Amino acid sequence: MKYQITFLPSNTITRAPEGTTIFNAANWAGLAIDSTCGGRGTCGKCKVRVTEGNAPIREADRKFLSPTELNDGWRLSCRAVLHSDCVVEIPRLMGNPKAALLGYGHHVILNPNVAKIYLELSEPNLEDQVSDLARVHAALDKEGYDVHSNISLWRALPNILRDNNFQVTAVVVGNELIALEPGDTRAKNYGIAVDIGTTSVVCAIVNLNTGAVEAVKSDLNRQAPFGADVISRVSHTMLEQDGLAQLQARIVETLNDLLTQLTAQSGIARENIYEGVFVGNATMLHLLLGIDPEPISVAPFIPAIAQPITFRAADIGLQMHPEARISTLPHLGAYVGADIVAGILATGLTRNKDAKLRLLIDVGTNGEIVLGSVNGTLSTAAPAGPAFEGAQIKNGMRASDGAIEGVKITEQGEVILQIIGGDVAPIGIAGSGLVDGVAEMYRAGVVDASGRMIRVEDARGKLPDALVERLVTIDGVRAFRLSDAESNIVLTQQDIRALQFAKGSIAAGVEVLMQQMGVTANDLHEVLLAGSFGSYINPASARTIGLVPWVAVEKIVAVGNSAGEGAKIALLSFREREAANRIPEFIEYVELSGRAEFNDIFMEVLAFPKLTADDRQPTEFYVLPSAVHSL
Ligand code: FES
Repeated sequence: MKYQITFLPSNTITRAPEGTTIFNAANWAGLAIDSTCGGRGTCGKCKVRVTEGNAPIREADRKFLSPTELNDGWRLSCRAVLHSDCVVEIPRLMGNPKAALLGYGHHVILNPNVAKIYLELSEPNLEDQVSDLARVHAALDKEGYDVHSNISLWRALPNILRDNNFQVTAVVVGNELIALEPGDTRAKNYGIAVDIGTTSVVCAIVNLNTGAVEAVKSDLNRQAPFGADVISRVSHTMLEQDGLAQLQARIVETLNDLLTQLTAQSGIARENIYEGVFVGNATMLHLLLGIDPEPISVAPFIPAIAQPITFRAADIGLQMHPEARISTLPHLGAYVGADIVAGILATGLTRNKDAKLRLLIDVGTNGEIVLGSVNGTLSTAAPAGPAFEGAQIKNGMRASDGAIEGVKITEQGEVILQIIGGDVAPIGIAGSGLVDGVAEMYRAGVVDASGRMIRVEDARGKLPDALVERLVTIDGVRAFRLSDAESNIVLTQQDIRALQFAKGSIAAGVEVLMQQMGVTANDLHEVLLAGSFGSYINPASARTIGLVPWVAVEKIVAVGNSAGEGAKIALLSFREREAANRIPEFIEYVELSGRAEFNDIFMEVLAFPKLTADDRQPTEFYVLPSAVHSL
């Protein structure tokens, strides 16, 4: 059951399930309510006035609000739970909240889950024999923090207070008092946002006081030698006795090495990193925790954990503050993971107030697809295979120096290459070069709509001589030479078929979602391409080969590493994290392997779409817009 809630004075209307707090509903609608306790009912700052609807008075309301306020309908929004439609007035925020520009042009109000509170405690004496712990708790309570603590803090307590004249800084993560530090250390407050990809891992150290990213680095996931994709990693855990432990050790090693590099580069001490928000696909996050991922890989595809969780960094050997907490975002399904939830958060797909329909595609070995708006959203995962990563492509390679990433074929048949590293001889083709090369070959008539490469004898007199010269045969297979004869980088007929299968899988996934929603390409406001590969695809070429539905090319937008951006947003704002944690409630996951029509649609979309006049326009090499966060 959902109820309508109208927020004044902005007149923002949203719908939320029974039991949602007004605080969370406002957050979901993108409206800020004052708070320092993160909705835990302890700071008393989140008051709103319920002018219509049912909001019973609760214990916490009586603690912070006067009888007159209660009579007038004032309630703590983090305690007031929806049981009817209602109208709520939100008071204006006092002062200008600090904000950071993150994600897809979103201003995120800084509300980190980590708070550092400087305490100047009165020293005990014979008239004041309150225990150390009670003294600290009482001081924090005054500041609006109702916290728990644990044995490591209790052990340190007597000495740290006495060695520092009872002047200490409390470090609170959520409602846990994780440390007391000597003197005033409020200026040193950091967290990490981590995107664990199957291929690479990105880690950013973020200043929780300012929202600034202090340092960011990516590295290959050191699990890679055990398999390129999630299925082969899972197989390793099944086939080797120590497989799971090996893979867990490798990802922790990758992360600790990144932390070493980042702390050295930024001069930030590990002990001042108190929290992490980690995203990744379900298999990656299971391996990080040492949880058997096998059930994810076999029908009915059930992860051990899909909900957001929090654990101590030390539990898995991460070298940060020993009591630092790591939180993950939820998964939508076995193959649409927390990385996509983070991407949805960063793009605002499910809550953009314009209510326009957007399609988000993270193109990779596993193509994750999300289609929707604030009015309803569907998601699915389409197994695309490794072609986009350059695997199983004759001259395929990862996107690194010497890789062809862009291709242009002029009317005269000249082939111009864009090569990573600039003016160097090409040594292979990256995924974006594959998409661009095949699209250009299709535009130039080197391949037809079915994907078949033209025979030399048919090409003579039909195509420019410069192109005919590039048609070769390798081991009986037709191929097209992209580079000069010396470098001899070719695209073969088999490469084109591999690309057709990869793009066909994603295109069929998109079509299934569009059919289920009853929409067509004409209804799409934007197509957002995400991920370390998706962002680098030339939008025009993606459209020409039918990887994305046919929309005006300006509507196809690279959003970069939206997963990493989403993790940063969730790190800097517990409200946004709360919103991310609720994203699964608003999204229906569609399992393609259970859909009879998927195979038929897949066969239909294997061919390249008919070329339009627009597709035939000469295009420029694609350059990732500078505003896009590409790491
Ligand atoms: S009491 Fe702090 S947010 Fe409600």
